[in-house]
Amino acid sequence: MKITLRLAVSVLITAAFAAALVTYVQVRDERGMLVAELNARAEVIGESLQESVTGYVQSGSRTDLSRIAARFSGRVRLIGIAIYDSQGVLLSSSPSLGFAPPHPGARLRDAIERNRTETFIDSVGSRPAHVCITPLHAGSRTIGTLVLYHDVAYIALRLREIWVEGFLRMAAQIFLLIIVIIIVVRWSVTGPIAQIAQWMRTLRTGKSLHHHFFPGGDLFGPLAAEVSLFARSLTQARAAAQEEARLRVESESLWTAERLKEHVKIVLNGKNLFVVSNREPYMHTGTGTAVQWSVPAGGLVTALDPILRACGGLWIAQGSGSGDRETVDAQDHIPVPPDEPSYTLRRVFLTQEEEEGYYNGFSNEGIWPLCHITHTRPLFEMDDWVYYRNVNRKFADALLEEIRDEEAPLILIQDYHLALVPLMVKTERPDARVAIFWHIPWPNPEVFGICPWKQDLLLGLLGADLVGFHIQFHCNNFLETVDRFLESKINWDQFSVERLGQPTSVRPFPISVAHPFETGRGDRAEDEAATKEGLLKRSGCVAEYMVVGVDRIDYTKGIAERFRAVKRFLEKYPEYVGRCTFVELGAPSRTHIKRYHDLNDELDEIVESVNAAWQTGSWKPIVFLKAQHGHQTIGEYYRCADVCMVTSLHDGMNLVAKEFIATRTDEDGVLILSQFTGASRELPDALIVNPYDIEEMADALYTALRMDPDERRRRMREMRQVVKERNVYRWAANIITTLSRLRMTV
Ligand code: G6P
Repeated sequence: MKITLRLAVSVLITAAFAAALVTYVQVRDERGMLVAELNARAEVIGESLQESVTGYVQSGSRTDLSRIAARFSGRVRLIGIAIYDSQGVLLSSSPSLGFAPPHPGARLRDAIERNRTETFIDSVGSRPAHVCITPLHAGSRTIGTLVLYHDVAYIALRLREIWVEGFLRMAAQIFLLIIVIIIVVRWSVTGPIAQIAQWMRTLRTGKSLHHHFFPGGDLFGPLAAEVSLFARSLTQARAAAQEEARLRVESESLWTAERLKEHVKIVLNGKNLFVVSNREPYMHTGTGTAVQWSVPAGGLVTALDPILRACGGLWIAQGSGSGDRETVDAQDHIPVPPDEPSYTLRRVFLTQEEEEGYYNGFSNEGIWPLCHITHTRPLFEMDDWVYYRNVNRKFADALLEEIRDEEAPLILIQDYHLALVPLMVKTERPDARVAIFWHIPWPNPEVFGICPWKQDLLLGLLGADLVGFHIQFHCNNFLETVDRFLESKINWDQFSVERLGQPTSVRPFPISVAHPFETGRGDRAEDEAATKEGLLKRSGCVAEYMVVGVDRIDYTKGIAERFRAVKRFLEKYPEYVGRCTFVELGAPSRTHIKRYHDLNDELDEIVESVNAAWQTGSWKPIVFLKAQHGHQTIGEYYRCADVCMVTSLHDGMNLVAKEFIATRTDEDGVLILSQFTGASRELPDALIVNPYDIEEMADALYTALRMDPDERRRRMREMRQVVKERNVYRWAANIITTLSRLRMTV
C-alpha cells in the first residue's frame, strides 16, 4: 500500500474513533441535561396543580377533576395528566392519554409510601414519555397522586441531531487532514525521495551528476550528505575500475589504489598496517562547534594519506592542533579522513616543553639542517636531545600499546623525528617487521659526524629491518656513515648492515604522489573553474604569464634565490616587464624557530624591494601569498600556471614538482627543477637548474616562457608518464613487499 494511503487510512480510523468518542460524551451530557430540565419542569407544574387538585380529590368532585385533566391535555410537550386516589385507583385523566392511561404501578406505590416525587421514562401508547408522580397531601395524609406525562420524542430528535453534527464535523476534519497529509507527504517525503531515486538512477547509469538538485533540510540533509559521499566513492571506484580495465587492455601493470589494497591484503594476511610519524594527516583547530579540520602542508602527509585511505590501518602521530584533544576518543583515536573515514588516527599529545625540545629543537634545529646541505648551522643542545629521546619513547610506547594483540605486525615509521623508535620497538617486539623511511637527504659521513649523538641515532635506525631513502645516493651515504661510526658489517652487494646479528636492509624508494591526483578534497566546489586572469585578479594583478612556486616557507626550498632569479630575469629580459608575474604560495612553517622567523622577514624584504623597483600600474613582478593554502587553491594555480619553479637548495624528493605534473592533465606547462632534489633524478624533462646560480635560473625562466608548445607538451607528457607509473601506490607496494619478504632472525 502506498505510504499516503496508509497514512490516510490510519488518520481516518483514528479521527473517526476520536470523533465518535467525543460525540458520545456530548450526547450523554445533552441527554442528562434535557432529562434534568424536564424533571424540573414536571415538578414545577405538579407543584402548581397540587393545591387545586388536592381540594377536588378531598371533596370527591370528579367533574372538577375531569375539567382540570381536560385543561392539561395535549399541551406543548405535556401529553396529559392523570389523578389517582391513595389506593392507586384512577380518578380522572386527560383525554389525550386515551381511554385508559398507562398505570405507573409500583412507582405510584413508591411515591405514596416514600411520600416524594418520582420521575422516570416510560411510554404512552407507542410514544416514549416522561412520567412525573407527585403525591397529594391533606395535612399529614397522602390522599392520592397527580401524574404528569411529557412527550420526550424531542430529546431523541436533539440527540440524533448531535450525532449527525458530530459525523459531519468529523468528515470535514478528516477530509482536511487527508488533504494536508497528501500535500506534506508529497512535498517533504515522496517528492524528495523521488528526487533522490532519480539522482541515484543517474549515478547508477554513470551520467553526469553536475547541477543536480539535491534535497536538504532536517529530514534528508544527513541522508543527502551520506549519499553525496557514497556517490563520490562510487564515482572514484568507477573511475578506478575503468582505469584498471584500460590498463588490462593496455597490458600495463600500473599501481592503483585498488591494486595496492588487494596487494596489501595478501601481504598482511588480515593484519593491520601501522604508520608512525610526527606530523598528523588531519589536524583539528578551534573548539566546540567551531572545530574545523585541515590537511597540514608537507610531502609526508601528501604521500602517506592516500596509502592509508586505500589500505586502512592505524596512523600514530602528534596531535598538534588546538582542537585535536577535543576530537579524539578515550583511546586518543579518531577515524579519518573526517569526511570519509577509512583508517584510524591515534594522536600522541606532547607538552609545550617536549614540543620545544624534541620538535623545534633537536629535530628541526639539529637534524634538519644537519641533513640538508644549505649552510645553516645545526644546533645541538643536550636538553633538546633528552626531550628527543623521551618523546621517541612516548611514540614507541603508544605504538607498542597499539600492536599489543597483533602477531608480527608490519610497521612503517616515518622520518627524522623518530630515529630512535625502531630500536625501542624491536627491543620489545622482535617479531615486528619494522621499516623507517627517511624523507630528507642523508649527508656524507663528514657532515653527519658533527652530531654529538650520531651513534645513538644510527643505532636507533638500525633497530629497523629496513631503512628507506628516496635515492641510492642517500643509501650510500648512510651505509658509509654507519661504516665510519659503528662497529658493524656492511654488505655492499646486498645493501645491508649487520650488527650484533641483527640485519638491516637499506634501499631506495623514490616517493611520489597518488595517481590520479586529487586536488579538490575539503575545499571549494569543483565546478568553479579558475582562470589565470581570475587568479591574478584575486591579488589585484594583471599579467600575460603566470609562474608559480608552492612551498612550506623553509630555507631549504630556495625561495629567496627564486625571487632573486625573477628580478634578474626582468633585468635581463625587459620585454617581460609588465607581462610576467611570479606567484609564490608559501605556507608558514616552524615559525617558532628563529631561522624560519628570519627567513620570513628576509623574503618579505626581497619581495617589497623587487616590487617597489618594478611594479607598474596593475602589474607586479612578485605576488607572495603567505597562508596554509588548501589543495583546491594550490591545484588551481598549478593548472593555470605557465611555469612552476621548484628551486630547493637540497631536498629528499620534493613532491611539489610531482604534484604540478600530476595536475597538468592538459599536458601543458613547464617545470623548472633544482638539480639538488631527489625528483630531478626521475624528471630529466624538466628544465634542471642549480638554484645557487641566479643567472641560470633567470635564463631557464626565459627558456620556459619561450618554449615551443610542441616541445612543452612532449616534455610534460614524458614527465606525466613517469609520475603516473612511479606513483605513491607503487612506492608503498615496494616498501611493504620488501619489508614483508625480509628474512627475520627471530
Ligand atoms: C618535510 C618532512 C616531513 C614534515 C614536512 C612538514 O617534508 O620530511 O616529515 O612533516 O616537511 O614539516 P612539519 O615540520 O610541518 O611537519
